[in-house]
Amino acid sequence: MLNSDRLLVLKLGGSVITDKRKAFTPRVSIIKAISRQLSKIKEPMLIVRGAGSFGHIPVKKFDLHRGFHEEQQLRGCSETKLRLLELDAILLQNLIRHGVPAVTYTPSSMLIAGDGRIEEFNLEPMESLLSLGFVPLIGGDIVPDRKTGFSVVSGDQIAAYLAVRLKARILLLGSDVDGVFTSDPKKDRSAKLIGSLSIQELNARLSTIGTSSAPDVTGGMLGKLMETIQVLRAGIEVVIFNLNKPERIEPIIKGDSVLCTRIHPS
Ligand SMILES: Nc1ncnc2c1ncn2[C@@H]1O[C@H](COP(=O)(O)OP(=O)(O)O)[C@@H](O)[C@H]1O
Ligand SMILES: [Mg+2]
Repeated sequence: MLNSDRLLVLKLGGSVITDKRKAFTPRVSIIKAISRQLSKIKEPMLIVRGAGSFGHIPVKKFDLHRGFHEEQQLRGCSETKLRLLELDAILLQNLIRHGVPAVTYTPSSMLIAGDGRIEEFNLEPMESLLSLGFVPLIGGDIVPDRKTGFSVVSGDQIAAYLAVRLKARILLLGSDVDGVFTSDPKKDRSAKLIGSLSIQELNARLSTIGTSSAPDVTGGMLGKLMETIQVLRAGIEVVIFNLNKPERIEPIIKGDSVLCTRIHPS
């Protein structure tokens, strides 16, 4: 039986593990530093990666985020999925090298979406290996879609969905900023970090949250926070933090005070 009580779901933002503005460019030194930190974590863990420049750039180029509409997209879609596989291989190599028993999962073989939202997800393959102590690695993908042929499902959506279905203890969303600010910190120098938020406060603030200045077809910070609502409603704490500082992961998990935004379910 799977003991999912203490499962930790961690999203690795594409803005950190890749150079989001340069197509297909991994940031290997930070991937190594993250892997080193993750090797210290002893509780059950599930890793979800963003796609960064391995996904968002070709998705825009081939217009994949609008679903299937012409045959030329097939080649672009296959090529994009090959790039995502390359990113998974880089992550997997580094995680394994640092002693994290990671195994990859491909969303397009496990789930079906409807209009870009996950409708069915076969969890058994993941639950089985989690219960043995493996660390599943999964990420944003182009998946079959009942309405649009195929659609882009973000790492944020997958992380939030799995946190709810697997009854995670906590959902950690790592990005390239210290947490949620009063406005986009990359555009507004007077933006202030919000250390903690309730679900009600988050709802009230959503209109002040921006998307992303980098290519991101899944809504940047606003998209991320919209996904967290289902997680908070399920009673699970959500933390937004700066994954460029992977040494913050340990204190966040322990509940120690460290720079981040903790969003409390009640
Ligand atoms: N209120 C806000 N607080 C924090 N970040 C914000 C806010 N509004 C917009 N952003 C932007 O959201 C970006 C993070 O989203 P995104 O680029 O999608 O990251 P990721 O690749 O980690 O998913 C930040 O780089 C930041 O510029
Ligand atoms: Mg994003």
